[in-house]
Amino acid sequence: MQKNTANPLEKNTRTAFGVKILTSQHKDIRRIKREQDSPSIHGNKFWGSSYLMMDYLTENPPEKGSKVLELGCGWGLAGIHCARHFDAKVTAVDADNAVFPYLHLHAEHNAVDITTQQKYFEKITNKQLAQYDLIIAADVCFWDELADTVYQLIKRACEAGAGKIVIADPERPPFFTMAERCIDEFYGELEHRQVDEPRRATGALLVIENA
Ligand SMILES: C[S@@+](CC[C@H](N)C(=O)[O-])C[C@H]1O[C@@H](n2cnc3c(N)ncnc32)[C@H](O)[C@@H]1O
Repeated sequence: MQKNTANPLEKNTRTAFGVKILTSQHKDIRRIKREQDSPSIHGNKFWGSSYLMMDYLTENPPEKGSKVLELGCGWGLAGIHCARHFDAKVTAVDADNAVFPYLHLHAEHNAVDITTQQKYFEKITNKQLAQYDLIIAADVCFWDELADTVYQLIKRACEAGAGKIVIADPERPPFFTMAERCIDEFYGELEHRQVDEPRRATGALLVIENA
């Protein structure tokens, strides 16, 4: 597991997997919170599953320059990690426009460009899905109805010919409902993972090679 370090040089920041993170006390985070409404579908912080994803991708890196789609990106930590370390061309999609200022702020602090799109999962076309070498998502199965929504999206991505798909989750029941169907139908595999620094996170990753 890669060591994560606090950065004592810059106030209200820390580093995780080589990605700079601004804490809730950082002046730019506070400014965005003042200037706009809060994200309304839980995209209000970096969730632990993003750390599981970064840990997984550090051990299983995509090819340099891969096209990556991050679904339900929130503040976009996993996508920023891919752009920073693997020179990936990242598109980050979320239903909630309010997450993107936080994502772009972190992209700027990490000197990477991320393309963002406001879109519900159901509206992402097969043609778009087919373009990506890697599709990632962290903690997007948090309501019962999302189990089927995310399953349908993965099914369309597999059938459209997308590359590898990796979904990280803190092991909520709807994630397992979705994952069981993907294991049966798309040869998905589940692995348990734990990260201890800079914060503890445990959960599972569903990995579909779709080769
Ligand atoms: C729990 S947050 C996780 C955010 C980020 N992936 C992370 O790990 O920090 C779930 C994210 O999924 C987005 N989301 C939920 N349902 C969605 C849908 N049907 N289509 C697109 N985005 C969705 C939310 O707006 C939110 O940003």
